[in-house]
Amino acid sequence: MMFVTKIIALHILFLSVHCKETSDSRILVFTVATEAKDGYLRYLESAHEFNITPTVLGFGETWKGGDDIKRKPGGGWKINLLKEALAPYKTDTKNIFLFTDGYDVIFVNSLNEILNRFSRLNAKVLFGAESYCWPDPELASKYPEVTDGKRFLNSGMFMGYFPEILKLLERETVEDTDDDQLFFTKAYLNEEFRNSIQLKLDHKSEIFQNINGAATELEIYTTESKEGGPEVYTIKNVVTHTEPLILHGNGPSKLTMNYLSNYVPKMWNSVEGCIKCKQNNVNLSDISVAEFPSVLLAIFIELNTPFLEEQLEKLHMLEYPKNRMHLFIHNAVSTVKCIV
Ligand SMILES: *[C@@H]1O[C@H](CO)[C@@H](O)[C@H](O)[C@H]1NC(C)=O
Repeated sequence: MMFVTKIIALHILFLSVHCKETSDSRILVFTVATEAKDGYLRYLESAHEFNITPTVLGFGETWKGGDDIKRKPGGGWKINLLKEALAPYKTDTKNIFLFTDGYDVIFVNSLNEILNRFSRLNAKVLFGAESYCWPDPELASKYPEVTDGKRFLNSGMFMGYFPEILKLLERETVEDTDDDQLFFTKAYLNEEFRNSIQLKLDHKSEIFQNINGAATELEIYTTESKEGGPEVYTIKNVVTHTEPLILHGNGPSKLTMNYLSNYVPKMWNSVEGCIKCKQNNVNLSDISVAEFPSVLLAIFIELNTPFLEEQLEKLHMLEYPKNRMHLFIHNAVSTVKCIV
């Protein structure tokens, strides 16, 4: 009898410790951004929508990760910044680390939901996946094949337990100007290492949605608000049947990202319209014309465009004082056809 009681007591103890650990686990969010670009402000706004406060690394510093990150490899600096920032967490086995890029990412759901999904994916380290093998397409055939979802690693968003993340970051030394995605790709392609830290890719975008190559898979869905308020929009991946929790406008998918971020998280609804448009407005009735904010108007003529003259006429007729307006015209059309 004594024996049985003891076992039950131990079992209860084990359960309570186990529950305590999972409910106490928190996600700590890190990003790298050197300056407050528009994309960064949008990132922070989306984070604040879910009470997320990212730790921002490199802010105010000169970018050291290569001079043209959009077209050329680079970004090793991110790894070196993270290595330093995460050193104090080396023995933290309870909390979860989450990294996202800072200029082209938005959160569309809460850390609780991210934690829930992560715990179901049976990974200790999880990276977002994408359609393209970059920066070294030659490595494509070395990737394990997948039947469902995207095959290749993208390093703009990843998460995991601190000890395993540090093992990954410290696997090799990396120069600030080396490519971070190549660094992580090599780690992933090493099967023994991959298994040793349970490194997986989020092939079906359960959490991470890299948009490049997947724009046509994404749809904006409406759900009615429970409290009878305005409808709420969510993003669904109609190919993998998931609702991704963080979006990344990687590579040339920035325009799709801009489009989606006009609706999520809680950016637009049919009752209030564009919610963000009502923030930080200046009431022109309250200030003198001389104090009107200076405005930059940018016009992009990327195709042969009819009625251009009429459009410019309309701009000319705007009531806003001309000395407070700057005009930028980008013209990619070498010859203008005049139809007489
Ligand atoms: C702008 O200011 C004027 C004068 O102070 C006020 O009558 C008007 O309601 C304000 N408009 C908005 C949209 O707040």
